[in-house]
Amino acid sequence: MCGIVGCILQGSSEVAKVLRDALKSLEYRGYDSVGVAVCSEGRITVKKDAGKLEEVDRKLNLRGLKGSVGIGHTRWATHGRPSQENAHPHLDCTGTIAVAHNGIIENYSELRSELAARGHVFRSETDTEVVPHLVEEGLKRGLPLYEAFKQAVSRLEGSYALVMIAASSPSRIYFARKDSPLVLGLAKKACYVCSDIPAILSYTRDIVTLRNYDIGYIGVGELWIENLKLKAPVKRAPMRVTWSAEAAQKGGYPHFMLKEIHEQPTALRENSRISREQLEKMAKHVVDADNVLLIAAGTSYHACLAGAIQLLNYLRKPISAMISSEVQFMKPHIDSRTALIAVSQSGETMDTLKAMRYAREMGAKVLSIVNVFGSTIHRESDDTIVMFAGPEIGVAATKTFTAQVHTLSMLAVKAAELSGALDHGEAGKLNMQLREIWKAAGEVIRRSEIKAKSLAEYFARRHSCFYLGRGIGLPTALEGALKMKEIAYVHAEGYPAGESKHGPIALVEEGFPVVFIAPRDETRAKIAGNIEEMSARGAKPIIVCEDGDQLAEYTQPDCAFHIPPGYSPLFSPILYVLPLQLLAYYTAITRGYDPDKPRNLAKSVTVE
Ligand code: M6R
Repeated sequence: MCGIVGCILQGSSEVAKVLRDALKSLEYRGYDSVGVAVCSEGRITVKKDAGKLEEVDRKLNLRGLKGSVGIGHTRWATHGRPSQENAHPHLDCTGTIAVAHNGIIENYSELRSELAARGHVFRSETDTEVVPHLVEEGLKRGLPLYEAFKQAVSRLEGSYALVMIAASSPSRIYFARKDSPLVLGLAKKACYVCSDIPAILSYTRDIVTLRNYDIGYIGVGELWIENLKLKAPVKRAPMRVTWSAEAAQKGGYPHFMLKEIHEQPTALRENSRISREQLEKMAKHVVDADNVLLIAAGTSYHACLAGAIQLLNYLRKPISAMISSEVQFMKPHIDSRTALIAVSQSGETMDTLKAMRYAREMGAKVLSIVNVFGSTIHRESDDTIVMFAGPEIGVAATKTFTAQVHTLSMLAVKAAELSGALDHGEAGKLNMQLREIWKAAGEVIRRSEIKAKSLAEYFARRHSCFYLGRGIGLPTALEGALKMKEIAYVHAEGYPAGESKHGPIALVEEGFPVVFIAPRDETRAKIAGNIEEMSARGAKPIIVCEDGDQLAEYTQPDCAFHIPPGYSPLFSPILYVLPLQLLAYYTAITRGYDPDKPRNLAKSVTVE
């Protein structure tokens, strides 16, 4: 996720040093390029490149820039590859206005065409670059700088945290925010703007949090904020932050995993921004292929399983999901009529890369869904969808799982529409559910937290448990069990519920916890039978089901998690997995383990 910082120092020209150190403390957010712009003696100098801060600093000597006002940025690529041109800050044609941005400007291509027609020259592929050119346009029309900035911002659709400096106004930083965080830091002889509090905590603890549609400027001893929606000046009182820098990186959460669980509503909302063209392009490959094979490892494999079930629901052709490390040995049918979809959060998993290379040799069309732009899997694919989940730091995948299922759901609906399995109206309704599902995700997390915490006390004392589901409930069961074993070290088996009587049931004894995934679909009646079967042998059922579903009566109220209705059961992994992530998290905490550092595991597994 991109990071922004801006700073003005009074009586010092070492602003670049502050920017560099602040950007260093934003590194945990993940990025692929970095840059700073410093204003001095009526000129703006920009130094930026793809790569990590240390590397770029060594190459360009970022710290060597002299000046008392500047902005800096770490970029997580969304529009345009990681490169020197695409790194922020971006300049206008005159080189006197520099802008850094987090978020996505949705109407950038219209704005870009309009500005290009007026003679503006663009140097990058980014959405951000329209902003300095829009400001430049306002200045050409004779507007004062702040008015030009305000008019530029009012033309933007999408999300933004923006900072701007201008050679003509060397004692101010201009800022605006909508749907991307931005805070201000106040000090006696300095002031700061940044996307994330930890970046400036070593300089000041007096922080002003901006709200949506806030816009204004800051200087040393000067602050102006107004709200574009309220159309009025606003006062935002500073708060004194007492957290440590480490706690601040986690946004006040004790662990990245919990933070990322709570980020899922935002990640899902952002993920809806995957472009229609991109989805359509990949869906066309899927529809044109004779067979489709989804491959991945671990959590991403569970997302593939959900994706395969969704596609099978609509398309009449062989579609399957396979664990990537098995592909070379199971030798599934792959030829030039096969569409292979590799799903990977990191985009670097060696097992998945090897399977892709194997499939390519057999002539398959190699497609992928990744969360990291420019990753190896991205680069080696014929076509890729890059998700908008934002970087995931916790080793246990949480928000990337729900974003993967969300992406595959959008893909399945698009493929169904292209193939004629769904008409335009039906597809539209499902797409609306997918656009709105982030709200339900927030609701599920709010409702589940206390229950998960108290149930965790029970799980923490058990050696073993089952997670059972059928059909689209199975990937959720497998993922719930994986979370429990990998961070809480409680042996957990995810199993097809119908298969559980063919062996696993032998383990069940008094009080043995069994989690049932029960979306309201054709599997529900069968799951009811499985609950009875297990309960009769002394199991303690934990049930995840829809609001008002009588299945919940098979257990005590504190052992049932309720999911808001109104969403296709095919999308159920997105919502039904959320209580299970929380349950695993709190079980790990109760057992005294650090969920961010599970033993023997790495975030990215780049060996076979
Ligand atoms: O980066 P990938 O999605 O390719 O990683 C695959 C697995 O290693 C990963 O999903 C792993 O299972 C999770 N971190 C577990 O939570």
